[in-house]
Amino acid sequence: MKGIILAGGKATRLRPLTVITSKQLLPVYNKPMIFYPLNTLLKAGIREILIIIAPDYAGHFLHLLGSGREFKARFTYEIQEEPRGLADAFIIGKDFMDKDSVAMILGDNIFTDDLSEEIKSFKRGGRVFAKKVPDPERYGVVKFNQNNKAEKIVEKPQEWISDYAVTGLYIYDNRVCQFAKELKPSDRGEIEITDINNKYLKLGELDVKQVKGEWFDTGTFDSLLAASNYVATHKDL
Ligand code: TTP
Repeated sequence: MKGIILAGGKATRLRPLTVITSKQLLPVYNKPMIFYPLNTLLKAGIREILIIIAPDYAGHFLHLLGSGREFKARFTYEIQEEPRGLADAFIIGKDFMDKDSVAMILGDNIFTDDLSEEIKSFKRGGRVFAKKVPDPERYGVVKFNQNNKAEKIVEKPQEWISDYAVTGLYIYDNRVCQFAKELKPSDRGEIEITDINNKYLKLGELDVKQVKGEWFDTGTFDSLLAASNYVATHKDL
């Protein structure tokens, strides 16, 4: 299995901090943000990792992370010119993935769980991770039926359907590249990972796991501070 870290985007919600650097390079307590999702992949034994970055500050990522040798891994870099959506990772990453499956993680997502077993045990289809949140309207939201089976996933639902957000770690087999290629942009002009998840769901091949520990999507000032405070008091992360 290969890994992708999606670390582009515009990070408008963290301005003016992100006028002078990239969001994923900002500190979360004592480390740059991207170290946390990177560590989630490395812990699971993934050694070939594609890092997708925006054109601005691309050199800073290279300076920080280099070839990957220091991490006993091999890093490849690709530039995403425009934030076309999360599913773009599988279009940009197609050649890198070759015939393999992939664990894609967002560069601003921090998981306190060790998800290595869930990553290593993946065989085929899709696997995503849901977490109960107070503000589901900000995320892709998964509705479960009475048997606790995922029924549907809706991107940023305007009306409440469930409290369970789909978090920023997505594992797919190689078919994801073809599925991503077939996507049409949504009303907000992005190719949506929610559409990929619904594709696997319709095929009966989406496995939705629950995140037991904490999950931080560090794209806002409050969540950035909460994540820093968490790391400050749990120094093992
Ligand atoms: P978001 O937080 O949704 O977007 P953003 O980082 O541009 O921030 P803002 O909403 O404040 O403008 O993105 C989640 C993660 O995915 C983040 O690490 C950036 C990354 N991303 C890309 O790399 N490419 C994309 O096309 C998109 C939509 C996001």
